[in-house]
Amino acid sequence: MTDDETTYDVRVHDGRQWHRLEAEAGANLRRLLLRHDLSPYTPWTENVNCGGRGICATCGVRLAQGPAPSHWHDRLAAHYGYPRLSCQITVDRSLTVYLLPDKRIWGKRATD
Ligand code: FES
Repeated sequence: MTDDETTYDVRVHDGRQWHRLEAEAGANLRRLLLRHDLSPYTPWTENVNCGGRGICATCGVRLAQGPAPSHWHDRLAAHYGYPRLSCQITVDRSLTVYLLPDKRIWGKRATD
């Protein structure tokens, strides 16, 4: 958390480098990423997605740690090891986010 109690640090790795963002408490992670030109989408899904409604799962990212999923689709993704749905994540703490530049549409399950 930064000095201002209502903002959080969000570190984002885009596959090549780190970016450090600040997010107001309650910010939507997908919108935050898009606003900073750090798209969670691929070229295939950039223009064909559900617009943040939690349906298409193309906005997936990995979190080093993060809030427990609250949306049914994000809950399933987290449970089965798929990328978390950035459109269903509310920034309520500092986050470390990994974009998935190698994914084609949804991204793969995590392997242990
Ligand atoms: S944008 Fe479709 S599930 Fe997130």
